[in-house]
Amino acid sequence: MRKAASLPALTKLAAVAALAVLSTGCDLGLPAGRTPHREGNFLDMGSQPKLKPQRKDIFGARATGMMEPQAGTVAKGDDPYPYAQNEADRAGAELKNPFPASPEVLAHGKFVYENVCIACHGPKGAGDGHVTALFPKPPSLMTQKVRDWPDGQLFHRPMRGQNSMPSHSRQVDTKDIWSVVHYIRKMQSEQPVAPAPPQPVPVQAAAAAATQGGK
Ligand code: HEC
Repeated sequence: MRKAASLPALTKLAAVAALAVLSTGCDLGLPAGRTPHREGNFLDMGSQPKLKPQRKDIFGARATGMMEPQAGTVAKGDDPYPYAQNEADRAGAELKNPFPASPEVLAHGKFVYENVCIACHGPKGAGDGHVTALFPKPPSLMTQKVRDWPDGQLFHRPMRGQNSMPSHSRQVDTKDIWSVVHYIRKMQSEQPVAPAPPQPVPVQAAAAAATQGGK
């Protein structure tokens, strides 16, 4: 009885062994001792089908593998800035600096200012940064106009950008800019008030002046 019962079991074992031999035979080209544990398991991650940002999308849904966040979604921990570019006044009226002007916050503001803003706005906010030889010169941050702005408005300008100054909200976060606001206030308390920048002459007035000068 025992012998008869073990015969099918032996046959099964032989079949499994034969299959194992066959499947290792298919793995030609693999380094010695490396056997995929199932079909389609790529050992070399470099050669697997995958989404690459600059290449064609393997799922065929888009032109490339690059993905934009879904419209209307917010990343975890993200805090989107609610004011549009032309809402500086509203930002000024509604926003308060959430950070105290502590030595740590001022030190952070100085660090951010001297890494991000200084190239254009200059070491003391006078608008004489190194790149202003080639790019538009910003007005001084020490003018009475900027001193009179509420903190929220001073925060809003670099957040959303203004004319030739692009938005900085991708380079720095809100804590960075609020700290810079404290640091600019500190510079304003130490520096003399800068004269208002000359108003750009309207094109028609400039043309009239040129004609008069020619007479
Ligand atoms: C690439 C050069 C550049 C950088 C970097 C830059 N700015 Fe500006 N910024 C400008 C220019 C140019 C203007 C003037 C724009 C205009 O014509 O209204 C300006 C305007 C401003 C104004 C408004 C001034 C006014 O009187 O209207 C504020 C405030 C300001 N910048 C703050 C910052 C802060 C804070 C940073 C750093 C986080 C920064 N900027 C970085 C170029 C720059």
